[in-house]
Amino acid sequence: MNPPEPLIRSSMRPHDTVIYQIDPRLFRDANGHGWGTLDGITEKLDYLAWLGATVIWLLPFYRSGDRDGGYDVVDHCAIDPRLGDEASFDRLVRAAERRGLRVVTELVMQHTSDRHPWFQAAQRDRKSPYRDYYIWRDQPEADGSKPIFPPIESGVWRWDAIAGQYYRHRFYAHEPDLELATPQVREEARRIMRHWLDRGVAGFRVDAIPYMVERAARADPEDGGRWLLREMNAEARRARSDPVLIGEADIAAGEYGTYLDDGRRLTHVLDFHLNNHLFLVLARQDASELARTLAEYGEDAPAARRVAWLRNNDELDLEQLSPEERKEVMDAFAPEPWMQLYHRGIRRRLAPMLDGDPQRISMTHALLFSLGQIPVLRFGDEIGVGDELEFPERESGRTPMQWHAGTHAGFTDGPAPWRKPIAGGRYGYERLNVRAQRQQNDSLLSRIRRLLHARRHCEALSQAPRIVDVGNRAVFAALFEHNGSRLLALVNVSADAQRIALPGGSGDFQVELASDVDFPDPASARLSAYGYAWLSA
Ligand code: GLC
Repeated sequence: MNPPEPLIRSSMRPHDTVIYQIDPRLFRDANGHGWGTLDGITEKLDYLAWLGATVIWLLPFYRSGDRDGGYDVVDHCAIDPRLGDEASFDRLVRAAERRGLRVVTELVMQHTSDRHPWFQAAQRDRKSPYRDYYIWRDQPEADGSKPIFPPIESGVWRWDAIAGQYYRHRFYAHEPDLELATPQVREEARRIMRHWLDRGVAGFRVDAIPYMVERAARADPEDGGRWLLREMNAEARRARSDPVLIGEADIAAGEYGTYLDDGRRLTHVLDFHLNNHLFLVLARQDASELARTLAEYGEDAPAARRVAWLRNNDELDLEQLSPEERKEVMDAFAPEPWMQLYHRGIRRRLAPMLDGDPQRISMTHALLFSLGQIPVLRFGDEIGVGDELEFPERESGRTPMQWHAGTHAGFTDGPAPWRKPIAGGRYGYERLNVRAQRQQNDSLLSRIRRLLHARRHCEALSQAPRIVDVGNRAVFAALFEHNGSRLLALVNVSADAQRIALPGGSGDFQVELASDVDFPDPASARLSAYGYAWLSA
């Protein structure tokens, strides 16, 4: 038997790590051509550092078929020329490094675009070495696999007239699945990882992990195919001592540990379980569910290896809830059919779901930051950007960043943005933008920034929280202990003021941060509607 691999320490500590997710196409255009660019992101690094971000997660910026937000990759190592070139990528990484920001990019190896040269070579010639990169059958295989995007796709097999066979696609039909059981495909993945690691990225957000692992298991069933992750991890560590591999795995909480193995496989998992249950808590205005939620992770999935968010680039996929719980969340936040998607999720952005109320939205962030795991902010959520529900599918939540009230919201200085910023009304850039909110002390942006900066000084927030009974279900209360110091996080998830009983006498705690101006009043211990506080002792 081989000796066990050493435990891999995580280079991201929860209390001072904030991942900021950017869609490069929508953030800032630096050359006036109408598309967001890598240089545009470089221009905004001072803003990100000011806000308190420490890691930037770049959504795909590769050459793509442009039909799945860039996840339909045509060349994994080539930059979409509309967004930049190698030199602009290098400028971004170096400028980020100077500000203490790390860059994480996407590794999309579950599928490619059907315009990828590998697929085109595979289609044309059964004897091509690329044929085995994909999954072909003479007849669709009835193994019960369901399409990810119903009802847009009705199955996972598509007839290919050029190839004369069916190919498999778990995602869109224009995204044929890669066959990870083929060693050359795994070698391509390692080559692509090396390419970006050599250019200075800190690591990857790895797309669609369970599907990749499922294919790997066909080559070797050991660990259910999770050896694939160990292989990828070893590759990343050849380039860096502290790489991050954040896996997208929408699976039950109890399974996360098997994808981590103390960081020997993935270093982090995206925590869909917590994400879904946060919205259940918000829908019920009752925080008691969180005690159960946090108890469902095994010891092998500690908070420090979990990465959680409120909204991301996709629909709010509620598959970790029971059908009844899902209905509760839908009734509260997406009561109309056009707000829902793929029979399982919500395609609205955070601010409209929470009535655009800065107090309620900042409370939700306070809750996300009070659970011990590493948080992600989606660009624009810090100012409460809205959505465009007339756009198809997940495009509803993909509108340009709103920098100021001038032309095209400062997204582009050119005449024609490829996508227009939200204009007019409550969420329009004329009223809702970074510049305006920077000037207001009680804006959503200022509140979220205060939370992020306070968090940095509260090292205890990196520990696993212990839920505390304060005698009120509407208030989430958790105690964090670290090196003899204690931090009590309190979040009122309800629309009413709440009284609570502080543990050990209220006089023991000092206010680190509080949304309620006069909190705590030891005599009354009262949190205002959607109020929150971090108290230290
Ligand atoms: C991930 C992405 C999503 C994309 C899918 C297919 O889930 O977040 O946007 O459609 O992968 O690559």
